[in-house]
Amino acid sequence: MRSIKELKNLEGKRALVRVDFNLPIKNGVIGDDFRIKKTLPTLEFLLGKGAALTLVTHLGKDGNASIEPVIKRFFKISKFSKDKIKFFPNVRKFPGEEKNDPEFAKELAREGDIYVNDAFPVSHRAHASIVGVPKYLPSYAGLQLEEEVKNLSIAFKNPEHPFLFILGGAKFSTKLPLIEKYLELADHVFIGGALANNFLKAQGYEVGKSLLDDSSYDLQKILTNKKVIVPEDVVVQSGDKLVSKELKDTQSDDAIVDIGEKTIKKLTPYIKDARLILWNGPLGKYEIGGEVGTKKILQLVADSEAKSIIGGGDTVALISQMSSEDKFTFVSTGGGATLDFLANGTLPGIKALQ
Ligand code: 3PG
Repeated sequence: MRSIKELKNLEGKRALVRVDFNLPIKNGVIGDDFRIKKTLPTLEFLLGKGAALTLVTHLGKDGNASIEPVIKRFFKISKFSKDKIKFFPNVRKFPGEEKNDPEFAKELAREGDIYVNDAFPVSHRAHASIVGVPKYLPSYAGLQLEEEVKNLSIAFKNPEHPFLFILGGAKFSTKLPLIEKYLELADHVFIGGALANNFLKAQGYEVGKSLLDDSSYDLQKILTNKKVIVPEDVVVQSGDKLVSKELKDTQSDDAIVDIGEKTIKKLTPYIKDARLILWNGPLGKYEIGGEVGTKKILQLVADSEAKSIIGGGDTVALISQMSSEDKFTFVSTGGGATLDFLANGTLPGIKALQ
């Protein structure tokens, strides 16, 4: 990828910058602005070279959301002057975006003299603002996009050992190939979060009302792999209470919402011994109080001497709550894009810059 670092004087030039300010917003309140903060060095760099900026983002799936709250937060935290920065409307509002319509890509390209992609979290989408525009403008990778590629690549290009891979969250079918790939690359793979429920069921435990993927997979081969670690005890939601339970004691009306203390103890020496830890996805249902396991494991990882690479929007929100981002080697801004990059080693938006 060509980097913006190659750019010299941009006086009088307009840079069209694809950012990903798709922030979690609940009842009009922004939950986390990590993605804005991570784009600021790129924007500062371009402004410093004299460019005027047009920023393009999507917000939400369908493009109906107004990006006004995001714009407000952006100017509040960046302290940039509004003179040289304008925002394109929510780009998903335009049907040509998701279709990667060349006419729409050209229309976008008319907004700039150069194009910069600093939107790693959406670079797995072959949309017009990601893969279309680079066909019509000199195109460059932003600093955060470069950081993402450099740091996430550590996981599959000569990783240090012992290498521990921790995988949580849901999206079973997306993550199964990742488990298979990292069983080759890593020394230990811990499976937690909703993802683990299918494995516990396959081991013959009662998983009651827990979130399950209903496709039928044969998980025995994975379970017999010595590298695999699954929860040994859990926290369940039983009625309106959260209760710690041994796996043999779970009931048909329990829903597993977190890993238990025994599991945390089991994982501790692996974390302490590791030289590289790659982690994606929360280990419990954090929205309803199942965040204790994730927070304890995050603390152990933060205190360890391992290189730590953390991805996935939900885990990142917990890291922000704990104000501990600087304790990790790298915290990815991506969710689905991080998973795709770890699985495939590239993304459509990256290829479009090559
Ligand atoms: C994300 O939040 O993962 C990215 O912004 C991509 O959003 P999307 O899944 O709606 O394409």
